[in-house]
Amino acid sequence: MSKLWLRLPVRSGVRLATAIVALSCGTLAASASAQQPPLGNAREGKIIGYTCLGCHGIKGYRNAYPDYNVPRLRGQSPQYLYDALKEYRSGARAYPTMHLQALSLDPQQMRDVAAYLAGKPVTAGPVPASRMPAQAAVCASCHGSNGIGVAPMYPTLAGQHESYLIRALREYQSGYRKNPIMNAMAASLSATDIRIVAAYFSRLRPGLHTVPRPLFKWTVKK
Ligand code: HEC
Ligand code: HEC
Repeated sequence: MSKLWLRLPVRSGVRLATAIVALSCGTLAASASAQQPPLGNAREGKIIGYTCLGCHGIKGYRNAYPDYNVPRLRGQSPQYLYDALKEYRSGARAYPTMHLQALSLDPQQMRDVAAYLAGKPVTAGPVPASRMPAQAAVCASCHGSNGIGVAPMYPTLAGQHESYLIRALREYQSGYRKNPIMNAMAASLSATDIRIVAAYFSRLRPGLHTVPRPLFKWTVKK
């Protein structure tokens, strides 16, 4: 378990009890993203994560070619971010820059940096089905009617860049990005459907944000 997590009980006996309950209910906690126990040590992750902010910490930063916005990570499920890093590392998810970034990290560092970049995962109440486009209804069973993943392995889509969501869906459709669930889900979407669902999820609030950058480099010290 992370060092931060072990440090907390020193300050509060109540938190120790909460921590033990949270740890022993690991499988139960997996049923709702709001109850995820911390995956890694966000303080350690902040040091590792400084280089990531060169792209993920700049609002509206775009990948040059192909042209789309670098994904927003703040508020995302840390478990999903960790899974994504593992996939970049193994090559299951092909993207050269992120492959190199992930290669430089061991599994604990990935957990730590995922915890730091995600920060506090976003939560929100349900959105009435009447406000959802018909094409998004099927997505809601995993990504939530409010765009917030219903379990830690389902990414939050609310507030994510529209251009990134479109690109991800096209990549699932072409098979370039491999995931059995999403390859099947994207297969039935037309180009118009993709635009509609991407517009819908990207505009939902509360949603994801760009990771704020520390004002001064020395603020990232422990
Ligand atoms: C040079 C710019 C750049 C840097 C530096 C960078 N990233 Fe990324 N990152 C990207 C781009 C672009 C994508 C989207 C790639 C794709 O389409 O799969 C991405 C995707 C991701 C994703 C997947 C997000 C999702 O919603 O699926 C994670 C997680 C991530 N980066 C973490 C990191 C971490 C951790 C670091 C630092 C160790 C880092 N990135 C450094 C550009 C960068
Ligand atoms: C059965 C559960 C499930 C359903 C239903 C589902 N998804 Fe997903 N979705 C996932 C999982 C799991 C991932 C992560 C896959 C990966 O690692 O690439 C994902 C990833 C995504 C991503 C990439 C997010 C990112 O940050 O890179 C997008 C976009 C997405 N889904 C959109 C949709 C849309 C639109 C629908 C409805 C048409 C939908 N999904 C239906 C489970 C689901």
